[in-house]
Amino acid sequence: MKIFIDSADIDEIREAYSGGVLDGVTTNPSLIKKATAKRPGLNMKDYINKILTIAEGTPVSLEVLATSYQGMIKEGIKLYQIFNSVAENVVIKVPVNPSLQKEPSYDGIKAIKELTDQGIPVNATLIFTPEQALLAAKAGAVFVSPFAGRVDDFIRNNHEIKYDKTDYFPASGWKNESTGKEMEDNGIVSGIDLVSQCVEIFREFDLQSEVLAASLRNPRQVREAALVGADIATLPFPVIKSLLYHFKTREGMENFIRDSVPEYAALFEE
Ligand code: E4P
Repeated sequence: MKIFIDSADIDEIREAYSGGVLDGVTTNPSLIKKATAKRPGLNMKDYINKILTIAEGTPVSLEVLATSYQGMIKEGIKLYQIFNSVAENVVIKVPVNPSLQKEPSYDGIKAIKELTDQGIPVNATLIFTPEQALLAAKAGAVFVSPFAGRVDDFIRNNHEIKYDKTDYFPASGWKNESTGKEMEDNGIVSGIDLVSQCVEIFREFDLQSEVLAASLRNPRQVREAALVGADIATLPFPVIKSLLYHFKTREGMENFIRDSVPEYAALFEE
């Protein structure tokens, strides 16, 4: 499984890339806001150019802001024209359904197709059902991003369950102990279940889009995304680092350091 960093923070991205395990970057308007809030007066073009350069050789998703077909096409082309020459690694993120009303809009699907036809790779975002994923893949998106963590948050919120964002939510779902009801959203029992259903459909129908498991919150979710066959997981840097944690690893480190004899330590001082 490929690992992307889900961040627009240049220091985090640089540090994460230095480990040699990263395969791409995903950003969104909220991540850009968070990363740039601490840099007043920043030149956005220069800033994004730096991110693209750090990630050279791997894709970087930049999201459109518009909600209409024409607007998304215009912004997608503009982002691509401004930035793709830097390192040839820009992917345009397009919401699968940009409607702000209950009535869905087809503009996202049309924009995915049009940008794809123009040779601009698209990451279809805000995927919460396998049906959305199917349409996005058929329209030509190179990446289709189911938001696993937000599904778990949504299911827990619906059942008034208190949780910390990093709390594990079982991939196989969960019965609400107080009501005895299975917790689910429209036949999806967990975020990883959504990822798994997308993977299954893409395999069944030989769709070429990659499933990019997004909005992941903890190592168990990352493991499960890999086990169900997600092509990519995009992770905030703290989640990437948390993949390294185990109590016994830390305990082993303490023991090794305690047991080092001066004669052995002296080897490193020569
Ligand atoms: C990535 O493409 C998504 O924008 C991101 O993973 C969303 O994560 P969040 O649910 O933690 O905001």
